[in-house]
Amino acid sequence: MLPVVPIQVPEALVASLVECHGTDGRVWAEGLPALAAATADRWGLRPDGPPAHGAVALVLPVRRADGSRAVLKLQRVDEETAGEPLALRAWGGRGAVRLPDHDPGTGSMLLERLDPARSLLALPDDRAATLVLADLLAELTGHRAPPGLRTLAEVADGLLAEVPAARERLAGEDDRRLLADLAAALREVRPEPGDRLLHWDLHYGNVLAPTAPGPRAPWLAIDPKPLAGDPGFELLPALGNRWSDLAVTGDLPRALRLRFDLLTDRLALDRPRAVRWTLARVLQNVLWDLADGGSVIDGTQRTIAEALSGREDGSRITRPGR
Ligand SMILES: Nc1ncnc2c1ncn2[C@@H]1O[C@H](COP(=O)(O)OP(=O)(O)O)[C@@H](O)[C@H]1O
Ligand SMILES: [Mg+2]
Repeated sequence: MLPVVPIQVPEALVASLVECHGTDGRVWAEGLPALAAATADRWGLRPDGPPAHGAVALVLPVRRADGSRAVLKLQRVDEETAGEPLALRAWGGRGAVRLPDHDPGTGSMLLERLDPARSLLALPDDRAATLVLADLLAELTGHRAPPGLRTLAEVADGLLAEVPAARERLAGEDDRRLLADLAAALREVRPEPGDRLLHWDLHYGNVLAPTAPGPRAPWLAIDPKPLAGDPGFELLPALGNRWSDLAVTGDLPRALRLRFDLLTDRLALDRPRAVRWTLARVLQNVLWDLADGGSVIDGTQRTIAEALSGREDGSRITRPGR
C-alpha cells in the first residue's frame, strides 16, 4: 500500500551503505523501493511523512490500518542488526521503543513512532543527558540476554585474534604499545564475559522522546545492535557523545572521567572491570580503523584510553611523552 509515489532513497543513505557494505550495499539500496512497497502492502501501511535514515537503516513514517502512527524500519540483516527484534521483544517497550511487528525474512520492523526531532542531542545540559543514558542503560541491562544473540565472548575472541595483524599495520611504537595494553585489558576480563542484554550503541542520537506526553517514559532507546555480555562494554558510546561539550570544559580527561564515574555509579558497576571493558571497546574501534586502511590510533580513542588509565589497579596504559 505504501508508495502512492515510489519512495526516494536518500542519497546520503546510499553513500553510507556503499561505504559500509560495498556493492552489496548498493544492490540492497536499489531494492529498497520494492521492499518498502511489499512490506507496506502486507502490513496495510500508508505513508505519513518524509523518510529518515541513519548509517544503515531507512525509516519511513507510516499510518497503520487503524490510523495509528508508526514507522517502518528497513535494514539489511547482518550479524550486528540481526538481534534488534529479539532485544526489542525482550525489553517489551520498557526503556526502549515498542516493536508491534517484524518480518524475520527481510528484517523489516514496524516500530512505535517516536519524535525524531527530540533526541538526547537536543538536551543542552550534558550532565542531565548522561544521567538519562545511565538510567536507560541500567534498565536495559537489567535483563538477562535472550538465547540466540551474539555474545561478548565471541566478539572478544574475534578482537583478540585480529591484534597480531593489526600490530603490523601500526607505524608508531607508542601506538603499538597502546594496542598491546588495550588487548591486555581485554584478556583480563575475557574469562567473565557476562550475560546481560546489551544495547551496544546507546549514544545521544539513539534516544528519542515519545511523540506526545503520556504514559510512556520520557526517553526511549532505539537502534540496538545487541549482545549478551557485561554492561561495562556499553559505556563507550556514552563517553564519546558531543565531544565539544567535553572539550569546552578545558580539561577533557577530567570531563570524561566524570561521565565515566556517573555511569558506573548509576549502573553499580565494578569500576576496575568497567575500565577494562571500556578499553576493550576502544580496541574494537581501533581495529575497525585499521581494517579500513588506517595506520595510526585515532586521537579520540587514545584520549579516552588515557583518561581512564589509572582508574584500575595496576593499569598498564602508557602515557607517551609525559
Ligand atoms: N521509532 C522511531 N520513531 C521515529 N523516528 C525514528 C524511529 N526510529 C528511528 N527513527 C529515525 O530514523 C533514524 C535512523 O534510525 P536508527 O534506528 O537509528 O537507524 P541507524 O541504524 O541507521 O542509525 C533515527 O535517527 C531517527 O531520526
Ligand atoms: Mg541510529
